Amino acid sequence: MSGHLGARPKRIVGLGGTFRQASSSERIVRAVLKECEHLGAETTMFDGPALARLPHFNPEHPDRTAEERALVHAIRSADGIVIGSPGYHGGYSGLVKNAIDLLEDLRGDSRVYFDGRPVGLIVTAAGWQACGTTLSALRDVIHAMRGWPTPVGVAVNSVEQRPFDADGTLCDEGVANAVRAQARQIMHFAMEGAACPA
Ligand SMILES: Cc1cc2nc3c(=O)[nH]c(=O)nc-3n(C[C@H](O)[C@H](O)[C@H](O)COP(=O)(O)O)c2cc1C
Repeated sequence: MSGHLGARPKRIVGLGGTFRQASSSERIVRAVLKECEHLGAETTMFDGPALARLPHFNPEHPDRTAEERALVHAIRSADGIVIGSPGYHGGYSGLVKNAIDLLEDLRGDSRVYFDGRPVGLIVTAAGWQACGTTLSALRDVIHAMRGWPTPVGVAVNSVEQRPFDADGTLCDEGVANAVRAQARQIMHFAMEGAACPA
C-alpha cells in the first residue's frame, strides 16, 4: 500500500490528549493522523483543550454548543477515527469519555455511532498494567458503539519508553512502527468500508 489510496481523500478524525502541554497521548494521536495524511487522508484533531471546552454531557439537555456540534459533525463525516487516552486510575480519562458520550447524538443516524468505521486506539500510561486495562476498556467501548477497533492498538509506557525527544519528535522506533501500522490499517479499512457500507 503506498501513496493515495482512493479518489476522494478519506477523512480521519483524532480525539484525545490531556491538559498537559506535552501530552504524550495527544502527540501519538497526532502522529497517527500524520501517517494517515501521508496515505492521502484529510485529518482533524480535537485535542485535550478542545475536549475540555465541551460541557459535561447531559442527555436531558438537547441544546448543543458550537464545539459540541463541531465534534458530532466531524465524527458523523469521518471515514476513520483515532482516539487517545492516558491511563488514569487503571482506565481511560473522564475528558475522553465525556467526548465519547456526546456521540450519543449519532444514535438516530443511519450510520449509528462509529458504525462501519475503523477506530485506532492509543493509550499512554506510567505502567504496563494501566496500558493494558485502558486499551482493553477502550476496545469494549468501541465495540459497544459498533466501531471496528484496528488490530493494532498503540500502548506506550511513558516512563519506560520516553517516545519523544526534547523537540517532540517521535524517536522510539518500536512506537513509530506501531503508529505506521495502525495508520495503514485505518486507511485500508476506510477504503474497504467505503466499498461495502455496513
Ligand atoms: C489522575 C492520574 C491518574 C493516573 N493513573 C495512572 C494509573 O492508574 N496507572 C498508570 O500507569 N499511570 C497513571 N497515571 C499516569 C499517566 O497515565 C501517564 O503519565 C500518561 O502518560 C499521561 O498522559 P499524557 O502525557 O497524555 O498527559 C495517572 C496520571 C494521572 C494524572
